[in-house]
Amino acid sequence: MTQSTETPATQNLYHRDPSHQQQQHHHHHHHHQVQVQAPPAQVHEYTLPQVVNNKTSTANRMTIREYKKIGEGAFGTVVEAVLRYDNSEPNSNISSTTSSSGVGVGVGVGVGVGAGAGAGALAKDEWLGPFAIKRVPAQTEYKSRELEILRVVQHPNIVSLRFFFDKKSSIDNKVYQNLVMECLPSNLQSEIKFYRQSKYTIPYPHMKAYTFQLARAMLYLHGFGISHRDIKPSNVLVDPATIRLKICDFGSAKKLEPNQPSVSYICSRYYRAPELIVGCSLYTTKIDIWGLGCVVAEMFLGKPIFQGQAPESQLKEIAKLLGPPPNTFFFKSNPQYRGNMYTTKLFSCSVEERFSNIFSNSPPDAIDLLMKILVYDPESRASPRRVMAHPFFDELKSKEFKVYPRGSSTAIELKLFNFSEFEYELLGPYKEVLKVQQ
Ligand SMILES: Nc1ncnc2c1ncn2[C@@H]1O[C@H](COP(=O)(O)OP(=O)(O)O)[C@@H](O)[C@H]1O
Ligand SMILES: [Mg+2]
Repeated sequence: MTQSTETPATQNLYHRDPSHQQQQHHHHHHHHQVQVQAPPAQVHEYTLPQVVNNKTSTANRMTIREYKKIGEGAFGTVVEAVLRYDNSEPNSNISSTTSSSGVGVGVGVGVGVGAGAGAGALAKDEWLGPFAIKRVPAQTEYKSRELEILRVVQHPNIVSLRFFFDKKSSIDNKVYQNLVMECLPSNLQSEIKFYRQSKYTIPYPHMKAYTFQLARAMLYLHGFGISHRDIKPSNVLVDPATIRLKICDFGSAKKLEPNQPSVSYICSRYYRAPELIVGCSLYTTKIDIWGLGCVVAEMFLGKPIFQGQAPESQLKEIAKLLGPPPNTFFFKSNPQYRGNMYTTKLFSCSVEERFSNIFSNSPPDAIDLLMKILVYDPESRASPRRVMAHPFFDELKSKEFKVYPRGSSTAIELKLFNFSEFEYELLGPYKEVLKVQQ
C-alpha cells in the first residue's frame, strides 16, 4: 500500500494484485504523469497473462478495468468491469498452458494456449463488456463447484460465464478465483423492494414471465441432476427493461447423485425446504422448487413468506400455512430428527382457505400453482415441467401477449418458448402443452 497512485477508496474496495504493482513500477519514471492520468477513484485496471476464455478454453493476455462495485454476498465480491485483449507483449501467446495459479485444474476441461483465439478479429483497444466479475477465495475448506458447473451449463435463463482467472492478492497473499460473467442490471430482491416501496407489487405479467423463466432454468439444471441449493431473490438476476431472468450464484450448487448424502445445512433460512430444516441428507433437486415457490410468494406478498426468527422456528412458519407436517414426513426426511414437530394445528380453517387468506389479493391460478409447490412431501411437490405447464402461464402463450417494461409505453415481445431439443426431451409428455409458436 505504498503506491501513491492508489486512491484510498480503491484500497478499501479491492484487493491489489502483484501484476498491478509491477505495472506501476514499470511506469515509475513517469510517476507524476501517472498520478495526473490516474483513473478516478474506484477504477482499478490491471493486465494478466492468463485470462481463460470460457468458450474457446484458451488463455490470453488481457487487461481488466474494474469501475464499480455491484454486489457483496456471503462469500464473494462482485464488481462491474470491461476487458480487452492485450497483444502489447510479443510473447503473450507463447505462455505455458499451466497457469501458475492453477486456473482450470480440476475443471475437467483442458485450457489451451491462447493463439490469439477470439482476439484476432478485435481491435486492440476494443473493450468487451460490461461484465460482472465475482471474486471468491480460491481454496477454502468449503468446496465450491461454481466454476466447474458454470462451465458446463448453457441456457438462456442461467447467467453465462465468459472468462475466468485466478489472481493473488498482495494484501493477504491469498489466491482469488475471478468469474467474469455477463452483467444484468438488477435482481429480484431489488425489484421486489422497489415495488414494495411504492406500495405495489411487480406487475402480474412480469411475475408470470419471471416465474416461467425460473422454472425453465430449473428444468434444465435438474435435467443434469444439478441442484442450485441457494434459490432466493438476490440470486435471481433480472433485466427490468427486457423482463429477462437468469439464475446466478452457483457457489452452493452440486450435482446430486441418487443415494449419496449431501449436507443439509444449505439454502438461506427463509427459503429452505422443510426436509432440509429437519436435517434430511438424501434430498433431491425438489429443494430448489421449494425455493421457487418462496420466491413467487414473495413477489406477490412483497416480503418473504416464511420468516423464521431462528433456524428452529423456520418449520413453525411453514406449519402456520401448511398445517402440521404429516408423521411420514419426519420419518422419510430424517428418522433421527428430535426437534419440534409442530403437531398442533396453528389455524382453524382448511389449508385451501389459509392460502386464500394469506394471498387474498392474488389471482386464483397463482394460488393454485403455489399450493402445488409449497407441499411438505418432496415427491408430491411439482416438478419444473409441471410448473411450466400450469394454467398460470397460459397468458404468456397467447399470440397477443406483450409486456410493458417498467416506465415504458412500448410493449415488447418475449421469446419464452424457444426450447432446445434437450429441453423438449426433458418436457416429455408436457411437450405438447408447451409447444408455442411465437
Ligand atoms: N452476473 C451478474 N450481473 C449483475 N449482478 C450480479 C451478477 N452476479 C452477481 N451479481 C450481484 O452480486 C450479488 C452477489 O453475487 P452472488 O453470486 O450471489 O455472490 P454470493 O455467493 O456472495 O451471494 C448478487 O446478489 C447480485 O446482486
Ligand atoms: Mg448470492
